[in-house]
Amino acid sequence: FTVDMNKPKGEINPNMWGIFFEDINMGADGGIYAELIKNRSFEFFRPMMGWEKLGKNTEASMTILNRQEEEHQANPRYLRVDTRKADTTLGLKNEGFRGMGIKEGLAYDFSVLYRQANAGIRVKLELLDSTGQVIAETAFQPTADVQNWQSAEARLVATKTDPKGSFRMWFEGKGVIDLDMISLFPEDTWKGRKKGLRADMVQALADLKPGFIRFPGGCIVEGFDLSQRFQWKKTVGAIEDRQLIINRWNTEFAHRLTPDYFQTFGLGFYEYFLMAEDIGAEPLPILNCGMACQFNTGELVPLDELDPYIQDAIDLIEFANGSVNTTWGKVRADMGHPEPFNLKLLGVGNENWGPQYVERLAVFQKILKEKHPEVEIIASAGPYSSGEYFEYLDKELRTMNVDIIDEHFYQEPKWFLNNAKRYDNYDRQGPKIFAGEYAAHSRAATHAEQRNNWEAALSEAAFLTGLERNADVVQLASYAPLFAHAEGWQWNPNLIWVDNMKVYPTPSYYVQKAYSNNTGTHILSLLDQGAAVAGQDSVYASAVLDEEHRNITLKLVNVSGQAKQIALNLNGSQKLAKSAQVEFITANDLGAFNAVGKELRVVPQQTTLPVNKKKLDLPMQPHAFYTIKITY
Ligand code: AHR
Repeated sequence: FTVDMNKPKGEINPNMWGIFFEDINMGADGGIYAELIKNRSFEFFRPMMGWEKLGKNTEASMTILNRQEEEHQANPRYLRVDTRKADTTLGLKNEGFRGMGIKEGLAYDFSVLYRQANAGIRVKLELLDSTGQVIAETAFQPTADVQNWQSAEARLVATKTDPKGSFRMWFEGKGVIDLDMISLFPEDTWKGRKKGLRADMVQALADLKPGFIRFPGGCIVEGFDLSQRFQWKKTVGAIEDRQLIINRWNTEFAHRLTPDYFQTFGLGFYEYFLMAEDIGAEPLPILNCGMACQFNTGELVPLDELDPYIQDAIDLIEFANGSVNTTWGKVRADMGHPEPFNLKLLGVGNENWGPQYVERLAVFQKILKEKHPEVEIIASAGPYSSGEYFEYLDKELRTMNVDIIDEHFYQEPKWFLNNAKRYDNYDRQGPKIFAGEYAAHSRAATHAEQRNNWEAALSEAAFLTGLERNADVVQLASYAPLFAHAEGWQWNPNLIWVDNMKVYPTPSYYVQKAYSNNTGTHILSLLDQGAAVAGQDSVYASAVLDEEHRNITLKLVNVSGQAKQIALNLNGSQKLAKSAQVEFITANDLGAFNAVGKELRVVPQQTTLPVNKKKLDLPMQPHAFYTIKITY
């Protein structure tokens, strides 16, 4: 194989490799959003879901009330506890999302909104282990105020680790107290932010060094119907005023394990932008284009009534980029971020199709381009598997000359191997490509995480050589979906599995990481007898030059069951280091995967190889993926 280091083929978007975030598989609520209390505001479809009333005659003494005032319409319900006639101490227990992951020695921050007209009740707080033993306790004394809601905070420190803990409150003394927003967060959130995100999950994203983060989905952008679409304005401001909705993944496609799946929006658009900034990723929000999910209701907003949807897009740009003197820039500043978030990319619609999508997109495109030519618009060609719809849209979107087309590939491993050349002869003059959702769907699976086996990841590694080789047209790429909780998933495979205590990166995660950690600035040609290496003798390869850090990185994939010996000639004027840093991933069998709760089986390994007179001999193991970095 030959690499010509002095003839870069084109530039690479430094933000090419990113992540796709959707609240699917308990990715946000019950996942990265570190709230441990399920249904903290009693707004789930069944108001006491997640809660258990403790004591005698609780039906009479613990009731859900519904506020009618305008200002409480986002969060109307609260719980009234009246202990005056109770024979026993009354209590309330919360089960958490599949239990609560509790760690010994760690502090847990409780908070609540309450109203008590007359002093009388003292509240005891407890963390319990999975057997019901108390492993932390404290109390707070609510003060009396006839009219106003007040807030209280308390801290509990756990004396034991348990992945299946729970939380309990006891109401001691006689009186009446109203409760809302009962909340519990671990102290070790990402950057120690109060009511923040699970640090280990954000760290797994930061480690990818992603160029962008697309949010909030996925199908939840569209909604099962339009009333359940994602509306970003309802996800910013005080968390008690963010109106929750049933998660779209808690509907028709719902896995039997997730009847309790709601979006509380504690992770709202402000928090998404902040997370993007924290991990050094460009924010890439996707907004509803006036269409509900066509797999479901397919509801449409009439073309002449799209204004509120377009206004949402315009206001979002103001929220992200506007000065603190603008309406939405001020909302951002009041939430703690006067500096702009520098939004440059905006998606309009997700997996919408047909002329209905094209017509709506055209209205958005016209107005957004007039008002915000600085923002690139991403249009969705949807799932490749939709065949004629995909082709229709691809053609129409090109005619419309949209900035970027978002293509989705959920296919079997073989497809990924066969499509490594997909962009080799693509039109370079038209729109750029966002490979916005892809994942190899391997059939062999008796175990949930097993779909993320080495066969799938290896075929993705091969496909990604093709994206990298064509990085002048493929500007953005992200695997999907991102997270899955082992006890609360609806979709499979996924990039990162989690339980209540830990994250379990999949083999696909390590493949993505190899690409996103080694982006390079320029595409190099890596050729075998003059041709791109894209499956000849089961080998796939690509190469990039990093002018800034003065190195080149080669990616080579051997998808066959035989070892290979590859001779690499590194032509060019650069004076190369004498040894190359090599990272490789392989596994004994293609079905190998990283199981939740077990030691990781498929992980990258490191070694070095000598570089002599601009030559490098690479012995490739069967079924292996190599990332080779040589500095100059
Ligand atoms: O990634 C899971 C789903 O796949 C996304 O929500 C949707 O865009 C696609 O169909």
